[in-house]
Order: sequence, then structure tokens, then C-alpha cells
Amino acid sequence: MAFFGLFGKKKEPLVPLRELGLTCDMHSHIIPGVDDGAPTAEESIKLIKGLNQLGYKKLILTPHFMTGFYNNTPNAVKQKLDALKAELKQQSVDIDLDVAAEYYIDYDFMHDLSSKPMLTIGEKMLLFECSFTNQHRNFDETVFEMQINGYKPVLAHPERYSYWHGATRLMHEFHDRGILFQINILSLIKGYSPSVCKAAMTLIDEGLCDFIGTDLHNAGQLAAIENAMIPVSLMEKLKKCNLLNNSL
Ligand SMILES: [Fe+2]
Repeated sequence: MAFFGLFGKKKEPLVPLRELGLTCDMHSHIIPGVDDGAPTAEESIKLIKGLNQLGYKKLILTPHFMTGFYNNTPNAVKQKLDALKAELKQQSVDIDLDVAAEYYIDYDFMHDLSSKPMLTIGEKMLLFECSFTNQHRNFDETVFEMQINGYKPVLAHPERYSYWHGATRLMHEFHDRGILFQINILSLIKGYSPSVCKAAMTLIDEGLCDFIGTDLHNAGQLAAIENAMIPVSLMEKLKKCNLLNNSL
């Protein structure tokens, strides 16, 4: 049903975002006690059950890897994942869990690309994030390093980097160079700021959206995602984006 907002401007009807039918999420901070996400196993289980009820059948959990802040290692997070899986099995929660990482561009990430096994989404996709304040001087070099080592870069929430707002041509250039884009659900519903929402809409309008992720950290964000309503026109655009979530 259409309704009217202030000044009689026609507002679009809304539909629940869950109607998009995503069954796989590939960005979240649910592994307990390893980053700024779920602090305990109990909280992790609650978040997983919530996503499961939203229709997700597979979650690829992606703890932050950031030297000096989150000094995670593949073995440590895999052990935590195994404990989480065992607990979920005990509680008869039927969901497929896997682990990857959200890598911050830093010296160790660059170094590890050629010397250590990395936590990938699927066979070779690497989820990576950038500074929120300044564009990295070695951004191009880092992307190149990922690619020559056989990885496919997936840029986490490109809409959240304000220094790239309005840089549509550059975003196309990144995408043409093989960088996949993952947009956050919370960005679509103004969960961060109107400018981030606008940047997300521009990327979607330009066809620059390969994944939609929850980037889930806590129960408050889960509630926002559960209640997320989006305009019908946005739903139609998202359905035309060839999202890769459900292929994982
Ligand atoms: Fe994240």
C-alpha cells in the first residue's frame, strides 16, 4: 500500500528485506571472544539462531584479523568454530557453519598473502576491509598482491568508506579490476548514516553489488536486520544484482 509522507510526497511501499531470500551470509562477527563481535558462546548461539530463523542455512563467519587489535590466527578461530558447532549440534540447531576472515589491510596481511595459508570464502575469495578515515596508499598494491597469489578480493562494505563517496568511476574501475563488492544490510536501512545509505544505493544502481552481508556483531544489529524493511524498487534492483550469496 502506498502512503504519503511530509508535504504530500508519495512514499514507496516497503517490503521485508528477508523476502530477498538470502540463504548464505558471508560476513559476521559471531565467533565468541575473538573480536568486537559476540563476547560469549551464549551470545553467539543466540545470534546464529536468529539468523537461522531469518532463513539463513549457511553462515561463513569472518572474525577481524588486524595486527595490534585482533591478533587472530586461523588455527585459533577454527578451534572456536569447532566448539560452536558442537554446541549447536547439542542444541539441535541445523545450520552449516564455516569460517573465513575479514582482513584489514596492513603489513602482516600483505606479507602473509604470499607466505601463509589464508582463511578464504569458498576456494579463494578473501574478504578485506580498509581504514574508515583515509584511503590506504598501498590499496592498489595490496589488491594486486592478492590477485597474483591466486585470490579473489572481496571488499567489505565499500559504501562505508566516506572518502570514496561520489567516486563512482573509481568504484567501476575497482570492480573492472576484479574486486567484488559486499554491501551491508544495515547500510540499506540507514543503520550507519544517510550518506552511507546513499552510497549503498548508488553502488546498487550501478550494478556494483556482488554480496549482501549482515556484518553482524550483536543482538541490537540482529533486531535491526530482523525488522529491516526496504522500498519495493530497491528489492527489485537487488534481485537484478546477481548476488553470489546463495552460490557459496
Ligand atoms: Fe565486519
